[in-house]
Amino acid sequence: MTITGNSALVLHGRLKNMTRRFRFSPRRRQYCVLTFAGILTMLLLGIVGYAISSMHYCFDVLVEWKISKICNQYYGNEITGYMCPELCAGDTISEFHCQPAKQTSEYHFNPNRFLARKAQQFVVVKHAVPDSSYEKLAWVDSRHQEEHYPSESEYGGIVRRYIELRYNIQLPFDKLNSLLKLKNKNNRILFHASMRNSWNLIQNNEYLLSRLYEEKEIFPQVIGTCGDLFITELLDTVEFDERRYHFTNHIDLSKWRYHLKVAVLILDYLEEMAQNRFQMCSVLLAGFGISDSRMKYHDLRYITTEASIDRRLSDGRWCRHDDDCSYHDCRSRCNATSHQCTTGLLNNNLQIVCEKIFRGTAKEPGILVTEKSPARLLRILERCAQPVSRADVDSSRPWGASKALKKQLYNELTSIYEHLASSSIYS
Ligand SMILES: *[C@@H]1O[C@H](CO)[C@@H](O)[C@H](O)[C@H]1NC(C)=O
Repeated sequence: MTITGNSALVLHGRLKNMTRRFRFSPRRRQYCVLTFAGILTMLLLGIVGYAISSMHYCFDVLVEWKISKICNQYYGNEITGYMCPELCAGDTISEFHCQPAKQTSEYHFNPNRFLARKAQQFVVVKHAVPDSSYEKLAWVDSRHQEEHYPSESEYGGIVRRYIELRYNIQLPFDKLNSLLKLKNKNNRILFHASMRNSWNLIQNNEYLLSRLYEEKEIFPQVIGTCGDLFITELLDTVEFDERRYHFTNHIDLSKWRYHLKVAVLILDYLEEMAQNRFQMCSVLLAGFGISDSRMKYHDLRYITTEASIDRRLSDGRWCRHDDDCSYHDCRSRCNATSHQCTTGLLNNNLQIVCEKIFRGTAKEPGILVTEKSPARLLRILERCAQPVSRADVDSSRPWGASKALKKQLYNELTSIYEHLASSSIYS
């Protein structure tokens, strides 16, 4: 008892001595301050370096700041929108934050996409930031330095022509009207604000496609807008294991059934894309999501009409390799004599999905390449990812997979699924 008491006393004395020495030695203090400053600088440099090098880090604080800036513009009558009162009151729509990092791969990071909570559910907030092709609506005359806006009917014409030119889509009259929905027609300032916001949103591919194809339910539904922000539903992403090494790993029967089901839903989705002549130029499994048991694709930045993609790929830019004429997964060929991209799209949605999602690579097998996959399915997938024979090649896209092949794949998947269902009843 005394020994431990003694040693405790000694220890205490030493500690006191140390702290005293520490406290009163200016050299030590200086050393400490310097070390601390050094660590802090390194930490700061690290953060700045990370932010600059990856440029796709989203800070929740910045999202909040962005929203409050937009709300200030709303209170200053610079912007309008049906969703502004709810967005800015802060009680119905709240908890603005970045999307979780695991859902975004490097390629697909969208700096203008955030999450928020609206009542009981999460929603997506997207900011329609003008891109390089943005065209201004108002013009300023040099004499009076005055801004001139088109009239309402002129504006309707501008929008109609814009959509015709960019997407090769003829808009029905009622579709155009429901798209415009201009507000505050009696107040010149607010009316112009409303027109400016509408024009910003319309030039955003994601907003436009969601609005134009609302009733088809193939893209996330737009719930509301405020200025150049728009809010859409958040899809339930299809969930898969992060690392799928099925060749070595066992896959549960229930999981395998889920893979088959998702694959069939994706094929159905491609059918919708084909009917509306849409081309998907960057397809990721994480991009698919389910809403009310319907498959949708959430990232519309790389989806557009086939006509628009054909024009984009064959714009005559200089090229050395075929890759120079591609746009993400949409591929085309470089003309070896003129060194120009003059050919339109050569592959198609089905080929892209087979290659990237269903088959995958040896390192990252697709969702249909598992130890339970029958050899016949694997052979179909191979033909679909790299169609060669006449029957497998799409009639209009020489690197694309044909409708007949899609039907075969579909039948194969449903037959495997049904077989599993019937065998599991008796086993
Ligand atoms: C490549 O360009 C040349 C010269 O413009 C043209 O004559 C030729 O037909 C083109 N080839 C292909 C395969 O498009």
